[in-house]
Amino acid sequence: MPITENQSADTVLSIRDLNIALPKGADRALAVEDVSYDVKRGEIMCVVGESGSGKSMAANAVMGLLPKGVNATQGEILFEGQDLLALTEKQHRALRGLKIGMIFQEPMTALNPLMRVGAQIAEVFEAHGQYTPKERQARALELLIEVGIPQPEKAIRAYPFELSGGQRQRVMIAMALALEPVLLIADEPTTALDVTTQAQILELIRDLQQRRGMSVMFITHDFGVVAEIANRVCVMRHGKIVELGDAKPVLQNPQDPYTQALIAAIPSNAVPPHRETSQVAPLLEIKQLNKVFRSRGGWLKPAREVRALEDVSLTLARGETVGIVGESGSGKSTLGRCVVRLEHPDSGELLLDGVNLSQLKGDALRRERHRVQMIFQDPYASLNPRTKVGMAIAQGPIANGTPKAAALKQAGELLDMVGLVPAPWSVSPTSFPVASASALVLPERWRSIPS
Ligand SMILES: Nc1ncnc2c1ncn2[C@@H]1O[C@H](COP(=O)(O)OP(=O)(O)O)[C@@H](O)[C@H]1O
Ligand SMILES: [Mg+2]
Repeated sequence: MPITENQSADTVLSIRDLNIALPKGADRALAVEDVSYDVKRGEIMCVVGESGSGKSMAANAVMGLLPKGVNATQGEILFEGQDLLALTEKQHRALRGLKIGMIFQEPMTALNPLMRVGAQIAEVFEAHGQYTPKERQARALELLIEVGIPQPEKAIRAYPFELSGGQRQRVMIAMALALEPVLLIADEPTTALDVTTQAQILELIRDLQQRRGMSVMFITHDFGVVAEIANRVCVMRHGKIVELGDAKPVLQNPQDPYTQALIAAIPSNAVPPHRETSQVAPLLEIKQLNKVFRSRGGWLKPAREVRALEDVSLTLARGETVGIVGESGSGKSTLGRCVVRLEHPDSGELLLDGVNLSQLKGDALRRERHRVQMIFQDPYASLNPRTKVGMAIAQGPIANGTPKAAALKQAGELLDMVGLVPAPWSVSPTSFPVASASALVLPERWRSIPS
């Protein structure tokens, strides 16, 4: 029996027995299967699950924004006495923004890069025929103040690229709330933000929800976020609901094994393993690394200097994991890129097993570089979409003289190790959801580490 909930008088949105069918050739037949959950008046309902679990598809069905070829084939979505699945595109457009607001992970794709912030907010009013042009600007300013944008008089005249990621998300929230919707759908709105900004945006959403008495459907893959913000929680996996209930009992005493595993993985809940720091010589020593980026400046732009790293020193023992954390722009990636020598440090030393990487050049650098591998934020950017998965992994060893059959066998073992077997040899990386694509990068990197 699928998990469902009891009807109640204070239900704002009710998803009932929803099936969403994917086109032929997709990774599964149904994106969402027998899904029923409600969002109640004045609550934050968190929908949580790993990437590909169907969270966004259900939200897109509510908004009437399912991609082409993807259709709801069963169930209903009840909102203010109507079944949203029965609406025409025009009726849906009238509802969007007015009654239901939505914010997404990447504000940059939702904002018009060529339009000033104030004009974009004013456009929301214009689309729904509200206020005079002058009132729209005044209202836009009030909204920017309400969402806590620093220097709102300046921000209203700014273009999106002039704002930080967190500020852009605040602008998106202002636009979503402009028409005072009763329901806000937030699809991973903090996933692309650094931890500090994420905490501020979560606080803002909780604040606005209480001040306005709105209901929020909050989508996340992160149980840490659930613990911060949820009144109730709906856990999804492979298109189905595995657990549904008030946040506190679900967090404290999860019933489903999948939920249990996700909750155990929240960093603050995990018992840190006791690790002895090795007494032997460290594997990696970073000594007083400095890196300054200089932009040359142009006709209107002054030249700029950014001190990305300033006297950074740390050591890493064999078998040890060091977590490097900080807000965006604090130098984390530059440090990593210096260690793999994608970036050349201005000064300082990088010793790997006592060999000074920062001095190496040419062949010697190429040989040592193999021993340090990096995986990046965006797996699609590091995988060649035209090379089939099996071959992508086998290519390196084949180039280094391993017979093809042996290289492919090893590639199969590596795929197994990252949980991707049976190996879809013949597919291209882009047909994977992002999580699997990330896993794919691992064997690609490991193949070149000498055992
Ligand atoms: N545009 C699309 N066309 C076809 N299938 C898609 C599309 N977007 C997502 N899917 C598939 O739909 C399923 C649910 O995905 P999604 O709702 O995006 O998951 P989540 O938001 O939980 O990460 C997955 O199997 C995914 O591969
Ligand atoms: Mg999603």
